[in-house]
Amino acid sequence: MDDTSGRVTKDGIRIYEAADFEGMQAAGHCAARILDEVAELVVPGVTTEALDDFIRNRVTELGAVSATIGYRGYQHASCISVNHVVCHGIPGPKTVKDGDILNIDVTVILDGWYGDTSRMYVAGNLSRKAERLIEVTHDALMLGIEQVRPGNTFGDIGHAIQKYAEGHRMSVVRDFCGHGLGRQFHEPPNVLHYGRAGSGPVLEEGMFFTIEPMINLGRPETKVLADDWTAVTRDKSLSAQFEHSIGVTADGCEIFTLSPTNRFHPTWG
Ligand code: MF3
Ligand code: CO
Ligand code: CO
Repeated sequence: MDDTSGRVTKDGIRIYEAADFEGMQAAGHCAARILDEVAELVVPGVTTEALDDFIRNRVTELGAVSATIGYRGYQHASCISVNHVVCHGIPGPKTVKDGDILNIDVTVILDGWYGDTSRMYVAGNLSRKAERLIEVTHDALMLGIEQVRPGNTFGDIGHAIQKYAEGHRMSVVRDFCGHGLGRQFHEPPNVLHYGRAGSGPVLEEGMFFTIEPMINLGRPETKVLADDWTAVTRDKSLSAQFEHSIGVTADGCEIFTLSPTNRFHPTWG
């Protein structure tokens, strides 16, 4: 397959062909299915490395390859970010406690196509403030996705997310963003989860990218721990994230990473 085929916009964003949607659907479905399956394992007492072991095995069993194992030295099939961890939490021997909220982020490569998705899970009983955070973060992602159609801009996506999250007195993380993906893990553009309506590159049919807002109950600042991966809120406030991989269609978008059993949100399914 020729990686340089097809068109790239002046902003460096690749425009994929109609036939490429099928590859992305299959990869996205695979990643979403694994996130559905891991849900029942998220209970108090489980270790995050046990969750990662399950994910790594399922990736292989489904005929895919983990995109994260070996990516810039990362060693795991998932990122698992607990409570005040914003993203890139490294699975390990620590056990999950009652009331913990977890983001599990999985990226697979299937037939050369990337499927990248994450969602929130709850171990045991959910506190009211965590529930609110998860709800707002989920809805912010979906409002961002509603902006995706040819002629709108990337700024419209970020603006919708920021307006909604800040309207609920929560904050949008600036230090990490969504990204183009397709036959590569990360390609242009950076998909910001904040911004001005009408700013940024114009959306065109055939663009593939993720939207993956990280929303904090407190302030937006993050710091990366000494392991060089784990990003946490500086003020130790709770953080949540949801991620879909999507493709722009003639009149809107297609979500490649829809949950096959309707479990994208932790209180559904
Ligand atoms: N899946 C993450 C994203 O949404 C990236 C994880 S890279 C890793 O872009 F190396 F930390 F796994
Ligand atoms: Co991503
Ligand atoms: Co991801």
